Amino acid sequence: MPNNQQFKLKTKFIGTRDVHEYRQTIGTWVSELDTVLEIGCEWGTTTVQIAPACSRVVGTDVSADCIDRARREHPECEFAVLDAFDVRAAADLASELDIERFSKIYIDMSGLSGYRSLLDTISLLTMYATVLRPEAIVIKSASLKHFANLCQPWRGHDGVSRKSRRQPAGD
Ligand SMILES: C[S@@+](CC[C@H](N)C(=O)[O-])C[C@H]1O[C@@H](n2cnc3c(N)ncnc32)[C@H](O)[C@@H]1O
Repeated sequence: MPNNQQFKLKTKFIGTRDVHEYRQTIGTWVSELDTVLEIGCEWGTTTVQIAPACSRVVGTDVSADCIDRARREHPECEFAVLDAFDVRAAADLASELDIERFSKIYIDMSGLSGYRSLLDTISLLTMYATVLRPEAIVIKSASLKHFANLCQPWRGHDGVSRKSRRQPAGD
């Protein structure tokens, strides 16, 4: 049975359909105080767009070739090799770079857009939200965005959520 002591995620998840929407979120979701981790940065095209909007950004990719090219093309930005499924390595990367916390995470990994990978996508988001506890994760996943559009939290018959109702004494 769920209870009030049970751990609840506070991270917001923002699903975007394509790279255009993914980059469009920067103006809304990244602010000058943020330290941002991008996962699946390829050659760093989005990383360099995030950079002027935040205090620090680190672009990462599983491919060492991509990271070499990103470093060559954008020497002003920080890049590192990272396999997204190794969340422990992501936490270690933060310590190595003397980063207290990644406040925002951007994820654009090949293979996460289709419906068949929806469960992998949700477990990846949950892992990052649990271990790194960012305020928000922006992810490029058309299936997650579609699924989220179909979800609707039940607010009760009067449309008011239980949480915002005053509990009678002893309830
Ligand atoms: C569509 S590209 C990213 C494009 C980039 N975000 C941009 O905006 O230009 C997808 C990237 O995901 C990376 N990728 C695939 N599996 C990964 C994994 N397990 N961990 C990290 N990156 C991964 C690929 O190497 C590839 O560079």
